[in-house]
Amino acid sequence: MCGIVGYIGNQEAAPALIGGLRKLEYRGYDSAGIAVMGKNGLKVRKSKGALKFLEEKIAAELAAGDLSGSMGLGHTRWATHGEPSDINSHPHTDVSGKIAVVHNGIIENHAKLRAWLAGQGFRFRSETDTEVVAHLIDFYYKGELLPALISALKRLEGSYALGIISAEDPDHIIAARRESPLVAGLGKGKNLIASDVPALLEHTRDVYYLKDREIAILGRDGIDFYNEEGRPIEKEKFRIEWDAAAAEKAGYEHFMLKEIHEQPKALTDTLRARLRGAGSEPAGTDSGAAGSRSINLEEIGFDSSWAEAGRVVISACGTAWHAGVIGKYAFEHFARIPADVDVASEFRYRNPIYNPRDIFIILSQSGETADTLAAMRMAKKSGARIIAITNVVGSTLAREADLVMYTWAGPEIAVASTKAFTTQLMCLYLIALQFGSLRGVISAAELAAAIEALDKIPSQAERILADKETIQRFASLQFNKSKVFYMGRLFDYAASLESALKLKEISYTHCEAFAAGELKHGPIALVDPSTLVMALCTQTALFDKMVSNIKEVKARGASTAVITWEDADYFNETADSVFRIPRTLDSLSPMLSVIPAQLYAYYISVLRGLDPDKPRNLAKSVTVE
Ligand code: G6P
Repeated sequence: MCGIVGYIGNQEAAPALIGGLRKLEYRGYDSAGIAVMGKNGLKVRKSKGALKFLEEKIAAELAAGDLSGSMGLGHTRWATHGEPSDINSHPHTDVSGKIAVVHNGIIENHAKLRAWLAGQGFRFRSETDTEVVAHLIDFYYKGELLPALISALKRLEGSYALGIISAEDPDHIIAARRESPLVAGLGKGKNLIASDVPALLEHTRDVYYLKDREIAILGRDGIDFYNEEGRPIEKEKFRIEWDAAAAEKAGYEHFMLKEIHEQPKALTDTLRARLRGAGSEPAGTDSGAAGSRSINLEEIGFDSSWAEAGRVVISACGTAWHAGVIGKYAFEHFARIPADVDVASEFRYRNPIYNPRDIFIILSQSGETADTLAAMRMAKKSGARIIAITNVVGSTLAREADLVMYTWAGPEIAVASTKAFTTQLMCLYLIALQFGSLRGVISAAELAAAIEALDKIPSQAERILADKETIQRFASLQFNKSKVFYMGRLFDYAASLESALKLKEISYTHCEAFAAGELKHGPIALVDPSTLVMALCTQTALFDKMVSNIKEVKARGASTAVITWEDADYFNETADSVFRIPRTLDSLSPMLSVIPAQLYAYYISVLRGLDPDKPRNLAKSVTVE
């Protein structure tokens, strides 16, 4: 996710900002920029690509003292709205260039605000959601930043950490937060803001963590805090005792564990901007759906013509392919449309049969996987229309597809994919439901129930994570198991594929997934007392069948564990261990059932003394064949 740094003090701001941004590089970014307030006013410099390109760009000015100034903002951008480019990089300014803004998060109602501001005569330069914030503050600005910011915040929906400076006030930085991290650092003769502690440690170890809807005003000698009504508040100061490396992982031991924990937020971000109606839009906006919610994919260009497809073909690699398998089930279930799924490396060398009414859904976290791009290009050549689901704005896949739906998971650093997977599922479910609704195969009531269920998924994921010690304890008893099988039926079979991959990738356990109905056709020959069988059991109509399968492997000496609904007592007598997850629709279960499996894989890896973030022989993005 984006990184923010702000510096106000008695020394040069530009080197402090660049130094801070370097400490935030681990968060992933595609462009960088700074704004420095000096004797000659506010200067903004930004550049697409690595931080070193920005440094090269400003080197001459820095040497000549032309970027001199003791207050400024810095930003590393992970593109969400608008591709990575110099113009879309932060900081963004108002039309006159007196107010500069850096932002981390997503302004969900940016399109409406942009249209409204354009109507007021504001001229936009970038495609970003952030630029509306600069213009909105300018709209309310009457010579003081705090009241202007408070008025602007009232109009914003979504998440933000904001840093703001004005050329008319060279003695203050103002910052605000809602749902995106922001820390203020109290130094000697200097004060800072940052998205994360590592950017502050060179200057101070005394920090204040901003909470949602809090505002900070930093001067050279101190920091004052306010609520969003502008009333002063007291905040507790913390002393950072961690080292910088631990701070980068926000206190988690590994990026993978951090990313597993980021799933509730990533799922919320991916879902919320695609819902229209009560609770998903700012008060006062006319969605025409008061009291009820509907799926809004128009912003990504998904109109009714897409739902006229004769078949959906899904292609991807690795974890993204597993999301695709679940997608196939979802399209059949919610949209009653034929759906095929294939690994991209197979698809590209097959002799596939195309139909002019096919649409292709190509999934890729990175948007750069060689086999996936090749499959996409083949499908495109056949005349098929392409929907890309990717996590990287401006990636090759995003650029070449006809329509792009981004997963707003933020950068995924651990090689084993977690939050990218669950957010890919969220996108697939939204598209499948929209297909079903446009094709008239699901009723308004069914759609409403599904949307309500989707809306609960992030908080349900949070509840599973709150109970992670149960999985940790289980892992500590099972970490010697050299043979593990995941099995399930329907959506549980598809989720088993991903669950087994996680364990394989990071713990090097021999682990397979199979459809539970296939047990008797082969896998049961391998079952013996050294085997652990993990059964995913969320498909209520097939509980009896799963009980039989579990009994079959138990009779051959296997240890058994079940992942099922928290209110289902069905397996208590059969399985050795039962893990419970909050109840959602059976058809949506993979977004939740995979989380205990991710945690299990993580803990086994750690117990074996391995590094889950960097599994042997694997790469995060495979850009060659
Ligand atoms: C590699 C990674 C996997 C990933 C796959 C597809 O194999 O190790 O975690 O699922 O590539 O990557 P993509 O970026 O296309 O989703």
